[in-house]
Amino acid sequence: MALPTSIKLFEMAPRDGLQNEPGTLVPTATKIELIERLANAGIRHIEAASFVSPKWVPQMGDAAEVMRGIQRQHGVVYSALTPNLKGLEGALEAGVEEVAVFGAASEAFSQKNINCSIAESLARFEPVLSRANEVGVRVRGYVSCVLGCPYEGDIAPHKVADVAKALYEMGCYEVSLGDTIGVGTPLATKRMIEATRQQVPIEKLAAHFHDTYGMAIANLYAVLEEGVSVIDAATAGLGGCPYAKGASGNVATEDVLYLLEGLGIDTGIDLQVVIGTGYWITRQLGRQPSAKVALARGCTQRTPG
Ligand code: HMG
Ligand code: MG
Repeated sequence: MALPTSIKLFEMAPRDGLQNEPGTLVPTATKIELIERLANAGIRHIEAASFVSPKWVPQMGDAAEVMRGIQRQHGVVYSALTPNLKGLEGALEAGVEEVAVFGAASEAFSQKNINCSIAESLARFEPVLSRANEVGVRVRGYVSCVLGCPYEGDIAPHKVADVAKALYEMGCYEVSLGDTIGVGTPLATKRMIEATRQQVPIEKLAAHFHDTYGMAIANLYAVLEEGVSVIDAATAGLGGCPYAKGASGNVATEDVLYLLEGLGIDTGIDLQVVIGTGYWITRQLGRQPSAKVALARGCTQRTPG
């Protein structure tokens, strides 16, 4: 199958990237600056915050301040996670124009991450979807553990397809498939997509791959060949889920952009500015980007700041 001619890149660094940072909380002003730098790089979809319980994820406790503090750019969507109605109401008050609910293909992970079964989570998402629909806010859906679970091991593709279908039929405009612990390999990834596309149109599916085993770029190429045209990635390869032991960073935006440039697929995003942003944010966090492309190009080419 021909590769897609254009790709929508959904940037995860401010949310997935920073939700797992250990130690001192990242200052709100740093989060806001990160989001603004990402928008300046030409990124049009940014997951900026998470309206979850601050007892569960203290790193995201300033979601409302972050959302209110951003200098918004025309044409950029700043979205946030909302696991329930309480989260949605908080997000709406803070002026969020797109939200996301997040379920899982694994029962054990669903319990650990959102404290309920898969069926209960879907029932909880229904009122979120209808309230969001009432106020004209689009809802994205996530399915976690699509290629393996830290508690249950292998996950059958049909389980992913079932949850993706439920989210899509409930009204999620797009369903993002999360390899939460980054264990997938290209053939397993293709099989998972083949099962899921039977239930949800391929153009409504996004790939959200963590890079724990270094397979994320290979897996992305496999799903591009299947026609997936939405990719989630985090600048500097930040990321991880606090409830998925061993989950390391998301695939790095820098590496994805380099792959896409090599394939002749335009994103409108400036790779050099993203590299600079990756060096800038990791300097705030006291380390280096894990993006291979950023390391190869080095900090000599980074933008000032
Ligand atoms: P719960 O304890 O079952 O909820 O948590 P509850 O309804 O019983 O409420 C308990 C307390 O939490 C109450 O406060 C509520 O008000 C409060 P208290 O009376 O004890 O003071 N509460 C909230 N506070 C703020 N915002 C809210 C909210 N909801 C309840 N929205 C809950 C259920 C879902 C809230 C909890 O389990 C939670 O917050 N989980 C979040 C877990 C999380 O954020 N995980 C990481 C994101 S998912 C991810 O990273 C995967 C992804 O990247 C894809 C992939 O890689 O696979 C998306
Ligand atoms: Mg994730």
